[in-house]
Amino acid sequence: MIRTVYKVVHFCLYACLHLCCSVAMVNIPKNDSVKAFFAYGDSFFDSGNNNFINTVVKADFPPYGKDFIGGKSTGRFTNNRTVSDCIVEKLGARDYLPAYLDPSTQDKDLLYGVCFASGSSGYDALTAKILNVIPLSDQLEMLKEYIEKINMIVGEEEANHIITNGVHMVSSSSNDWAISYTAVPIRRLEYNVSAYANLLLNKATIFFKELYKLGARKIVVFGTPYIGCFPLARTVSSALLRNCGKMFNEEAQTFNYMLKSQMEFLRSSLPQSTFCYVDYFKITKDIIDNHLQYGFEVADRGCCGTGVFEVSILCNELTPICPDDSKFVFWDSLHLTDKAYNIAVNHALPELMDCVI
Ligand SMILES: *[C@@H]1O[C@H](CO)[C@@H](O)[C@H](O)[C@H]1NC(C)=O
Ligand SMILES: *[C@@H]1O[C@H](CO)[C@@H](O)[C@H](O)[C@H]1NC(C)=O
Ligand SMILES: *[C@@H]1O[C@H](CO)[C@@H](O)[C@H](O)[C@H]1NC(C)=O
Repeated sequence: MIRTVYKVVHFCLYACLHLCCSVAMVNIPKNDSVKAFFAYGDSFFDSGNNNFINTVVKADFPPYGKDFIGGKSTGRFTNNRTVSDCIVEKLGARDYLPAYLDPSTQDKDLLYGVCFASGSSGYDALTAKILNVIPLSDQLEMLKEYIEKINMIVGEEEANHIITNGVHMVSSSSNDWAISYTAVPIRRLEYNVSAYANLLLNKATIFFKELYKLGARKIVVFGTPYIGCFPLARTVSSALLRNCGKMFNEEAQTFNYMLKSQMEFLRSSLPQSTFCYVDYFKITKDIIDNHLQYGFEVADRGCCGTGVFEVSILCNELTPICPDDSKFVFWDSLHLTDKAYNIAVNHALPELMDCVI
């Protein structure tokens, strides 16, 4: 009898220890061999956060994710892995970057970093508001909550180390130009190009400084891509000839020049900070202009549907897709295929390295 009671007590203690593991201390190596990666911004980085918010901007249905593990639609806006996943795969300890809002993301995953990005977000808070996605200010709130969580898991000192030593990657601005300045041209009516670029730069600077205040020291920022030659921009500016929208590329470059020099300024003015600018414009321009050399056959439309307008809900189960997406630079009218993202990330590695070592 006593023995049974003892056994039961023993079992309970054991079970409790086991259950409590989710908040117990976990040992991870303190040295630099394990580095955490964090992603903020838009759909180039979003690995599924939009699945868990109330917006129409989603990618959690086929054909999205058709080449992902198990052919699963995870909310990534491409056929397989997205930019943040490819970076983590090449430089981090894992195959992909989990979405912070995904309930299946576990405590042990958190320690290697997570993704806070939200498809359709931008530096301008208006951009996220238009389609009801997560603005950068809320992505920062998620980071604060994340820090509280890992404080409980590994203790404050180790948590600080994870943030300070981690790589914080930002991809924003494309939707500011595409949505707030063009599709719903609220901002175009108020601001000329350089004034809007200035507004974005101010918002971006506030965001980078907030990240720094929360402990981030290694900040990687992607510029605006060669957006005028993305399929949707071609459709908007030259539906029949499918020429690039030159104006969109000029707008992107106006901002990129300012962003790049602002990052050099921040690097020299914020102690111990490293800012790494990724010339995403140059990289995507190279892939699109020289697509044949990279083994692609089509660069002016996406694989999904007609490829000239389909994106998110317009690219769905009923939409026919191309037979071989590895021949396409673009998966849908706004996002590259996994193959093109991998090439882009390979080109970005030299620019990223300063922020990774
Ligand atoms: C860092 O930690 C890992 C895992 O514990 C270990 O294998 C590695 O040798 C360590 N590296 C250094 C430079 O201490
Ligand atoms: C999807 O990505 C994974 C990880 O890089 C890769 O192993 C796999 O081959 C990719 N699948 C396709 C069909 O591209
Ligand atoms: C753009 O707007 C700013 C501020 O309103 C103004 O100072 C500037 O001259 C304008 N630039 C052009 C090219 O119109």
